[in-house]
Amino acid sequence: MARRKKVYEGKAKILYEGPEPGTLVQYFKDDATAFNAEKRATIEGKGVLNNRLSEFFMTGLNAIGVPTHFIRRINMREQLIRAVEIIPLEVVVRNVAAGSISKRLGIEEGTPLPRPIVEFYFKNDELGDPLVAEEHILAFGWAAQQDLDDMVSLALRVNDFLSGLFLGVGIRLVDFKIEIGRIWDGDYMRLIVADEISPDSCRLWDIETGKKLDKDVFRRDLGNLADAYTEVARRLGVMPQGPTGVTKPTLIN
Ligand code: TMP
Repeated sequence: MARRKKVYEGKAKILYEGPEPGTLVQYFKDDATAFNAEKRATIEGKGVLNNRLSEFFMTGLNAIGVPTHFIRRINMREQLIRAVEIIPLEVVVRNVAAGSISKRLGIEEGTPLPRPIVEFYFKNDELGDPLVAEEHILAFGWAAQQDLDDMVSLALRVNDFLSGLFLGVGIRLVDFKIEIGRIWDGDYMRLIVADEISPDSCRLWDIETGKKLDKDVFRRDLGNLADAYTEVARRLGVMPQGPTGVTKPTLIN
């Protein structure tokens, strides 16, 4: 049997060659890392949950006209995606102060921000993904001014969509990270949302209790990560039976 070709392996996902040109298969691993992979663990079921949750968010975005790389889910851990040229920037949108902005600027975690703030980080593990200004992005040619404007507008549309979705199930979208890629339609280039959208790359707090339902549970040792992600999925109506798919036996009369 022919073995499929691995194109790239990251910390949480593997990309394989897809069935047609311009496509890839994205496989979600159970591995969790934090602080640039200084802290690692394998969390059973995480890959399955993130595959389903990323499918859910990207399908919703596609439906409202925000283009994403998502084509269709293949199985519990894999999805078919469009191959893109990833822009080497992590685009972070923040609604409430938490994490690095709280540390950097001395703003107490949980302080609502006056408006959503969009930040860019240079994707480079050796440098620890440093915060960069538009000036750096333009000067080093990572993206052009038009790309930057499009990236901000995409990021804010994703923020509006996700904030509303989470608000409806009692969750505050504190912040999130997306990655954006280029695709070519003949001579025309378009930017689309790529990578993944999942609790690995968002901060999600229960509106009533403030309970964290995202990767901070792992980063800060606050409990069971798979339980937190299962809770997010359950509230959104995604895999109500949980990641193992095991349901209790029921009596048939
Ligand atoms: P930060 O507060 O640590 O800068 O994180 C901002 C958001 O970006 C948060 O939702 C977590 C997400 N994030 C990633 O997805 N990957 C990363 O490598 C980092 C540092 C943050």
